[in-house]
Amino acid sequence: MTEKTVAMWSVKALRGSAFFWFAVATTGQLAFVLYIAGFYGRAAARGDFERWNQVLVGGYVPGGLAGNLVLAMHLLLAAVITLGGPLQLVPAIRRRWPRVHRWNGRAYMLTALLISLGGLYMVWTRGTAGGPSLRIGISLNGLLIIGAATVAWRFARQRRFAEHRRWALRTFVLASGVWFFRVGLMFWILANRGPVGIGPDFDGPFVRAWAFGCYLVPLALLELYLAAERRGPLSRFAAAAGLGLLTLAAGVGIFGAVMAMWLPRLLG
Ligand code: HEM
Repeated sequence: MTEKTVAMWSVKALRGSAFFWFAVATTGQLAFVLYIAGFYGRAAARGDFERWNQVLVGGYVPGGLAGNLVLAMHLLLAAVITLGGPLQLVPAIRRRWPRVHRWNGRAYMLTALLISLGGLYMVWTRGTAGGPSLRIGISLNGLLIIGAATVAWRFARQRRFAEHRRWALRTFVLASGVWFFRVGLMFWILANRGPVGIGPDFDGPFVRAWAFGCYLVPLALLELYLAAERRGPLSRFAAAAGLGLLTLAAGVGIFGAVMAMWLPRLLG
């Protein structure tokens, strides 16, 4: 095999692994949207907001208008951002309908800012599951989303598209942190055949580590992918293998999240 052929195969492997990742992740994110709309949306349409608290810890507080509005907005935007993200990554849409890409991009960035600000407000006023690590972990996630979205937006306005692409991908990975958290949690439980490192108060060593790992690990892999695009075949094969493994793990985690979390709540 010539050097040129190896280089060509490494480009194909990297692209193939990115496509495989995109297909699996989009399926999992669509399942998350269906759950958000089907569980929270359906309960809201019936005026049965108390039902939200079957899942939430801080949740809906009767009479707490401001906090409830922030929560409702958060859940609505959660569906919007989870749908809008994968749409933004489809190359055909960027090429054929650049206006759709621009408007969806603006909506995505604005949603990322609002959902993170609302999330920060909720974490520190109403609380959430788990202990301080989870609160600090998701707060840092929120701040990083705001930072990355702002940088991506500025590069787009300056028409510096190579940098814009890199920062938009970082924003997407960071904004998928809560989704990675759920999918990774279910992968971990299935792989260990039980809730190893997850205390009864949802504050064990695994939860503490994954509170940060759920966005830092995917972010590290994205950096590997971006670096591999510009480097030689070895880096490209390594990044393709890493992405392939992450995709397989995500597939298992998505299956677990659908079967153990999202579907039972939809049917319950
Ligand atoms: C950016 C993407 C985000 C999405 C798609 C998202 C989605 C969701 C969803 C679906 C829920 C309901 C819980 C469930 O059914 O699993 C939720 C609740 C919540 N989220 Fe987010 N979220 C995002 C970002 C954030 C951020 C950055 C923060 C904090 C800084 C945050 C804080 C919260 C809090 C405090 C709750 C309520 C938890 C409770 O009451 O138990 N979220 N989010």
